Amino acid sequence: MRILHLSDFHLRGDGGLSFRVVDTRECLETAARHLLALERKPDALVLTGDLADSGDARAYEMLRDALSPLSLPIYAVPGNHDRRDRMRDLLGAWCPADPAVAPYLCSTVEDGPVRLILLDTMSPGSHSGHLPDLVGDWLERTLAARPGVPTLLFMHHPPFVTGMGAMDEPFENVDRFAAILRRAPWVRLCCGHMHRPIVTQWAGCLALTAPAVSMQIDLDLSPEGGDTFRMETPGYLLHHWDGETLNAHVCQIPCAPTFSGPHPFVGSVNPVEG
Ligand SMILES: [Fe+2]
Ligand SMILES: [Fe+2]
Repeated sequence: MRILHLSDFHLRGDGGLSFRVVDTRECLETAARHLLALERKPDALVLTGDLADSGDARAYEMLRDALSPLSLPIYAVPGNHDRRDRMRDLLGAWCPADPAVAPYLCSTVEDGPVRLILLDTMSPGSHSGHLPDLVGDWLERTLAARPGVPTLLFMHHPPFVTGMGAMDEPFENVDRFAAILRRAPWVRLCCGHMHRPIVTQWAGCLALTAPAVSMQIDLDLSPEGGDTFRMETPGYLLHHWDGETLNAHVCQIPCAPTFSGPHPFVGSVNPVEG
């Protein structure tokens, strides 16, 4: 089973450059061309948020138009730059939300040997993540239903400290989240938001972040680090289950090299729902 984990497209529907530098439409088209040309098709794509740069509707239409030709199951969770109402309305089946946790876009995919859990950690208007008790209760029930089954838990915000100070904002209700995961060591956390690959162990589970399809955050392990980005080769993660082992491969998206930066994050918002 092969699951491609892509994150942080930061698309703008108005054709402008994200953060005044990044042609995110071109990044999307480059990624879509690469995925279409893969010799071995994956079983599914999971997109871990910041699909849009400011939650505008046209961005979701661009994403849908670019990735639909892959004819693959696609699933998505929102990031801090997204609007879940527009994701639900415009991406439809990509966001198969369990009504028990509405309006959060949480669900599970149970039709393969690896279980996929889609967890919505977005709080409208906020840059940082949270796990409201409604979602925590749902996650607890969901994990208890199939103990020991290889499970990829997809979410936007990493709950762990990354060492890049500007990105290490408090994750609301993180202690409850850690307590839930300590009882489910078979789970692997698969996050976005960091725009670069990170591997760690948190609450007894292996935890990963995916590189971005757009710009990569500058690797700066200082208290102010994480507040600038660079144009580097974009990428994604391939989660591969061979029946015994679940490996995560860091993959690059081939493109003409355009290295530049550091650039400041300017001109973007964490949208509230209208
Ligand atoms: Fe992002
Ligand atoms: Fe984010």
